[in-house]
Amino acid sequence: MRIMRAAFASSFDADNPLAALTVGDRPEPTLPQDDWVTVQVRASSLNHHDLWSLRGVGLTGDQLPMILGCDAVGEDPDGNQVVIYPVIPTPGDPRGMSILSEHFPGTLAERVAVPRMNLLPLPAGLSPTDAACLPTAWLTAWRMLTTRGRAEEAESVLVQGAGGGVATAAVALGLALGKRVYATSRDAGKRERITELGATALEPGARLPERVDVVIETVGAATFDHSLKSAAPGARIVVSGATAGHEPKVNLRRVFAMQLEILGTSMGTPGELTELLAFCAEHEVRPVVDSVLPFSRVEEAFARLHSGEVFGKVVVDHTA
Ligand SMILES: NC(=O)c1ccc[n+]([C@@H]2O[C@H](COP(=O)([O-])OP(=O)(O)OC[C@H]3O[C@@H](n4cnc5c(N)ncnc54)[C@H](OP(=O)(O)O)[C@@H]3O)[C@@H](O)[C@H]2O)c1
Repeated sequence: MRIMRAAFASSFDADNPLAALTVGDRPEPTLPQDDWVTVQVRASSLNHHDLWSLRGVGLTGDQLPMILGCDAVGEDPDGNQVVIYPVIPTPGDPRGMSILSEHFPGTLAERVAVPRMNLLPLPAGLSPTDAACLPTAWLTAWRMLTTRGRAEEAESVLVQGAGGGVATAAVALGLALGKRVYATSRDAGKRERITELGATALEPGARLPERVDVVIETVGAATFDHSLKSAAPGARIVVSGATAGHEPKVNLRRVFAMQLEILGTSMGTPGELTELLAFCAEHEVRPVVDSVLPFSRVEEAFARLHSGEVFGKVVVDHTA
């Protein structure tokens, strides 16, 4: 049996997810169906999703060991540079789909198997390490702003917990779409970085100079009340994550009196990823990258994400 290097969940640890991470040898990917291909990974990026997996959220013990990683750019069997769309049709899953590293092995490996239809061409001008940030966090933020948040009807956007991968994407994309962007962060250094991007940085819970049309929520319980209070009449509060708790108290009087829409969303469609790749290439928008580490230091990359100190995406270079 041929083997390859990979970073995988070998157990679960709800309190210390890093203790459940193993870097070692795994069997080469197998192709479940004829229309699947193997991609040689050149760059990947980490997501909070990988920490949830190590905590045992979304995986069961019988799925271990599971190779982590949702995002990748690599080379297909014909030598084309490709971006992987990470959502796989999965009839056994209640959602009808899954993300790489949930039912099928993920991208933090030398090679990954995916349906051929999940491969998109890497646009000229985007580096593999930049493009590896886009398929999960940036796609989620793009859909939150456009399809779900109806950015074309909006003038202003609030992004909560702005240091995160999805949140920095929402700040950068919101600005590129011409919106007034406000963003909260607990950390003074991150607030400075937000200001450098061109948004107005605020402490969590601070009163905004205006009520906003779209709120980007990935934090959850710690910020949700502030999101409700900051929303203009008819605003969309778009939720794709709940890092700090998924059971916030919701003031329903505010929801109906202000005619708010609270919208859930997850990832995006292949068409939305194609749009996002074209938007980034055309508008010269580049992902906010916290750090790029070689695969040999992937444990350090996980520790960095887990520290909560990141500003933007933690990227792994598989060629270094
Ligand atoms: N549904 C989907 O398709 C989808 C896709 C991608 C991500 N997500 C979810 O979205 C969330 C963010 O993902 P990510 O990859 O962007 O994560 P990340 O890069 O680890 O970002 C986490 C950010 O959340 C903020 N935060 C964490 N704990 C907080 C607290 N107690 N109070 C206030 N802010 C807090 C922090 O912002 P500051 O330090 O700046 O305050 C931090 O930078 C995760 O829960 C993830 O599972 C969902």
